Amino acid sequence: MIEHLLSTADLSRDDAVLILDTAGEMENLTDRSVKKLPALRGRTVVNLFFEDSTRTRISFEAAAKRLSADVINFSAKGSSVSKGESLKDTALTLQAMGADAVVIRHGASGAPMRLASAGWIDGAVVNAGDGTHEHPTQALLDAYTIRRHLCGGSGDLAGLRVTIVGDVLHSRVARSNAWLLHTLGAQVTLVAPPTLVPVGVDSWPVTVSYDLDTVLPETDAVMMLRVQAERMNADFFPSTREYSRRYGLDAQRAALLPQRSIIMHPGPMVRGMEISDDIADSDRAVILEQVSNGVSVRMAVLYLLVGGSREGAGETS
Ligand code: NCD
Repeated sequence: MIEHLLSTADLSRDDAVLILDTAGEMENLTDRSVKKLPALRGRTVVNLFFEDSTRTRISFEAAAKRLSADVINFSAKGSSVSKGESLKDTALTLQAMGADAVVIRHGASGAPMRLASAGWIDGAVVNAGDGTHEHPTQALLDAYTIRRHLCGGSGDLAGLRVTIVGDVLHSRVARSNAWLLHTLGAQVTLVAPPTLVPVGVDSWPVTVSYDLDTVLPETDAVMMLRVQAERMNADFFPSTREYSRRYGLDAQRAALLPQRSIIMHPGPMVRGMEISDDIADSDRAVILEQVSNGVSVRMAVLYLLVGGSREGAGETS
């Protein structure tokens, strides 16, 4: 197993399947009335969030607590970071407090990598989203959700067709998913306006299309992305209406999907823009399941990076 989780491009097929299988065990255990496992008792997990987050932060906190870790939540707002303290000094402070794992979300692509490689902390570093770069645990929970629905909950995703739609340029979710889904054997198609396709996409293991209607009938799972207005410094499309007309998922478009395919979104959704209300709330949407699966997947990641042997996973306290 890897030492830190920084990027899905670092994960072998075996590591990825081990994380998904372990998440399956975690899910079975959290279905019990006593949800806590003793696996990380006495260990400290720090959640270091320099950027806003709802789902990811709460999910990591729930995951660490279910494994009985001590959890310290640090958000840059209200901390000495707003007084100009550097990432290095923040990291050294955490090290002095004895962090066994640091879960970091940062606006700068590469910040988790810096934390892991600079030697400032001894513990495992988990990337919870860095700039427009990667968001590996989101991709893992997406893969877990797809596997559960379309592959009977085991093995890899060989032969499945996954379509990722929208603001790929600014999306760390799209990047992490492209690599992980490819490693797990799925075929990935990106659909976006030409202005929101990243330069260098030719080196990604994906196919690119600009026409959603032709791709949907050949899709097993469609993943809608939020348009990341906060990362845009220019106009990337003429209007919200025009964007929705070409790249939004509404009932008429969703009818083009094969019967058993699923509809996903990492959240937060901009309802009415990339996804219509009725589709977001429909039976085919697995968006809330993605959120619940996030806790099991993050438990698995923390357990495998910090907790040691897999055998202990079966114990309950
Ligand atoms: C994503 C993120 O923060 O990258 N959300 C999440 O973690 N669930 C996607 C987004 O913000 O659009």
